[in-house]
Amino acid sequence: MSRMSGKVALITGAGSGMGRVHAVRLAQEGADIIALDLAEDALAETAARVRAQGRHIFTAIADVRDLVATTAAADAGVAELGRLDTVVANAGVTENVGSSWTIDEDLWERSIAVNLTGVWHTVRAGVAALSVAGGSVIIISSTAGLGAAPGAAHYSAAKHAVVGLARTLARELGERSIRVNTVHPGAVDTAMTLNPTTFARLRPDLSDPRAEDIVDVLAARHLLPVPWVESVDVSNAVLFLASDEARYITGTQLVVDAGSTEKRAS
Ligand SMILES: NC(=O)c1ccc[n+]([C@@H]2O[C@H](COP(=O)([O-])OP(=O)(O)OC[C@H]3O[C@@H](n4cnc5c(N)ncnc54)[C@H](O)[C@@H]3O)[C@@H](O)[C@H]2O)c1
Repeated sequence: MSRMSGKVALITGAGSGMGRVHAVRLAQEGADIIALDLAEDALAETAARVRAQGRHIFTAIADVRDLVATTAAADAGVAELGRLDTVVANAGVTENVGSSWTIDEDLWERSIAVNLTGVWHTVRAGVAALSVAGGSVIIISSTAGLGAAPGAAHYSAAKHAVVGLARTLARELGERSIRVNTVHPGAVDTAMTLNPTTFARLRPDLSDPRAEDIVDVLAARHLLPVPWVESVDVSNAVLFLASDEARYITGTQLVVDAGSTEKRAS
């Protein structure tokens, strides 16, 4: 398969979690990868997995909150790999902390800085190089970007905001044949969801809850009988939007949530 043959994709937060899986999945389909994250060792593991697919990868430490560092890293990656076709603004952080009016100001600022401003920085860094027709910008939002997320207003507000950014970019970049879409995962099998804090929040009745203890709680939120979405399912949505199969799809929100958004609405 070579749905990304000849293309180069920039992915933030590519050192672990879904970002790493996006990198490997796009590489499997022929893409070379520019991978940005905060830690060198994590990026090294992503690089090894991408190279195992026979593809090239450029890695750089860059905090998406830092526009200069993000732009420099993207520029260096494009210089090394020769072009840029896809931008995947994936880096994100969250923490479920409590009611909107109790959120610590630093936490609020951090969420907006990474989840909103960091996405804008990533797009700003990438769009200048995305000069080829057929370019695709994919912003990773969340189901919390389409509906309420009690206990995580700082996250939900940022994830809603990137939808506005994406829709505006789609308008601005359409005439250059660059498409812009958001992807909205529900609960996914990464450390962001599968961690002791989440286990304790979802199972306050247990003293030391584990992943298996939240399976029924999460499955009850879905139309499909699964507790969470696997990272590769989100990567497959990213791959589709990055590929020419989605050549006339722009300004949309693609939900990958086992039906949680629909279940909540109905
Ligand atoms: N896991 C879920 O259940 C879930 C659900 C919906 C949406 N999302 C979104 O998907 C995206 C990926 O999440 P994940 O589950 O893989 O998370 P993760 O915590 O497993 O990985 C996030 C990655 O982003 C990197 N990162 C964090 N802050 C950064 C910064 N300032 N600059 C550069 N890199 C940074 C981290 O180092 C890490 O490698 C995020 O935008 C997240 O909000 C996740």
